[in-house]
Amino acid sequence: MARRIIVAIDGPAGAGKSTIARRVAQRLDFTYIDTGAMYRAVALWAIREKLDPAGMQQMEELAKAASIEFEPGSVRVLLNGEDVTAAIRTDEVSNAASIVSAIPGVRRALVETQRGIGAAGNVVMEGRDIGSVVFPDAAVKVFLDADADERARRRLDQTGITDRDAIAAQISERDRRDRTRAESPLVQAPDAVYLDSTALSHEEVEEAILKLVRARMSNGKEYH
Ligand code: DC
Repeated sequence: MARRIIVAIDGPAGAGKSTIARRVAQRLDFTYIDTGAMYRAVALWAIREKLDPAGMQQMEELAKAASIEFEPGSVRVLLNGEDVTAAIRTDEVSNAASIVSAIPGVRRALVETQRGIGAAGNVVMEGRDIGSVVFPDAAVKVFLDADADERARRRLDQTGITDRDAIAAQISERDRRDRTRAESPLVQAPDAVYLDSTALSHEEVEEAILKLVRARMSNGKEYH
């Protein structure tokens, strides 16, 4: 059987990871895994249970107990059997997820699940630490970035929120937390390819990543 192929796409919030990772997975017929959705699902559960998202022990227990599934062939996320696809996208959950994801025990539990998914087949997995921690031997690693203004603009388009300064402040606070936390901070893996999507279309980013994947799939020979 062919070796499973992992395409790791990391980068800050708003760099376009989800859209790109989904499109690349579709083109390759790989499974798409949004690891941010897993941290969001734990955060949602904590909010519903009125627990403090900074509570290390309780959050670790939730992460271990949570059943988080991705419905095959769709972008639906299930938490303990319930469809939480929309519920995990609120601002409240975004902020709680950023806090929850800094807890080492939570990361250990979710990384184990992520490795299990990756062991089962070809995946495009997006997050913050996929190329650096979860799959350091991933066949293709991309660090997808965009400048902060552009990321704020995209978030405005996505959410329909009109307060640009508030969005920019939120993004910069989440970036700061993601990059400075002690456990698995957002860093570019040394062997990741850096892609700045600021001035690129989705099609251009998608093609650039597909080119990297094809190069690896053809026994390391570059396509020209
Ligand atoms: O990508 P996202 O915005 O849905 O991620 C939600 C939060 O989870 C965000 O604060 C970063 C964090 N996260 C993480 O720490 N590691 C990952 N692999 C994915 C997301």
